[in-house]
Amino acid sequence: MYQSYISGVGAYVPPRSLTNFDLEKPLDTSDEWIQQRTGIVKRHWVEGDTSTSDLAVEATKEALESAKLSKDDIDCIIFATLSPDHEFPGTGCFLQAKMDMSGIPAFDIRQQCSGYIYGLSMADAFIKNGMYKNILLVGAEIHSRGMDRTPEGRNVAVLFGDGAGATILSRKEAGADNESHVISYDLHADGAFAKELWTPGPGTGNGKEERLTTSMIDEKLHYPYMNGRQVFMHAVKRMAESLTYTLKTNGKSVEDVDLFLFHQANMRINDKVGEIMGIPPEKVFNTIQHYGNTTAATIPLGMRDAIKAGKLERGMLVGMAAFGSGFTWGSGLMRF
Ligand code: UT7
Repeated sequence: MYQSYISGVGAYVPPRSLTNFDLEKPLDTSDEWIQQRTGIVKRHWVEGDTSTSDLAVEATKEALESAKLSKDDIDCIIFATLSPDHEFPGTGCFLQAKMDMSGIPAFDIRQQCSGYIYGLSMADAFIKNGMYKNILLVGAEIHSRGMDRTPEGRNVAVLFGDGAGATILSRKEAGADNESHVISYDLHADGAFAKELWTPGPGTGNGKEERLTTSMIDEKLHYPYMNGRQVFMHAVKRMAESLTYTLKTNGKSVEDVDLFLFHQANMRINDKVGEIMGIPPEKVFNTIQHYGNTTAATIPLGMRDAIKAGKLERGMLVGMAAFGSGFTWGSGLMRF
């Protein structure tokens, strides 16, 4: 019997950092509004010709180093992103070429803010069934170049940042409960809410002759749209529900968990989830203040920063939860 465990963690954000004050003029917003409603203080946005796979390369290098593995030890790539380098092929292939890891399979998955938890479940299943030994699971996003960065798009543009997080899931023989391993996950989706947070184009569902037309660009269909209140409400309810289920099915309580790593969409969402579940605030590690919402990258990025901050150590029981576009949501439990 095999189990998977996280053998390495890495992350990367581009150097250019923008405070809320930097956005005040171009987006007709204010530091006060952003901080009060979201907890965000700054975010990182790329410059020049940096692509999503470039961010992933840096996170991958750090993850390999932390796992003390070489690129040749990796036998599968799972790449979660909603902001790919190109329409196709998947960004996993571009990362693979840049890392010189030819030959191994490369999956791209599309579960937006829940991408990391969905990817974790895939990696764990592949390892448990004996298919692969060391899987590179990456979440990486460049939001900055895909948003309406004018006052019209401010309700979305202030929220999102660019960044990447990478983890390596490795195989081990099943052992004691206190050994590092992925314990459990719980996944959900509800496509009835697909258009509450989405980017319509390019795509075949827009009733146009082409997947991308100039009229679509004029109508700004290539930018994300969000019904913020609806997303907020569902995020709180679903994250708390799923995480409660995961803890219960594993016979664990909030007290047993050492650290909670939540998706980072809004500090108020995480505070409310903590409130509902009775989680002491010091057990939740948030990074939204520094990075905004980096979608599929938030959980591995948080993992890396928690390690650096001395808040995440081997042997700790870690609870995770995420919610995002789709709607998709889920939770996970692991012994780090
Ligand atoms: O990862 C999953 C995806 N995202 C989320 O989970 C986000 C979930 N939603 C949220 O976090 C919140 O709904 C937001 C932070 C996006 C918005 O907060 P809100 O309290 O729901 O604000 P609102 O959208 O209802 O807007 C309130 C007001 C409006 O003005 P009026 O109509 O009251 O005059 C907006 O025009 O705030 C205004 N507004 C802004 N003002 C300054 C919206 N965006 C901004 C802005 N700066 N950036």
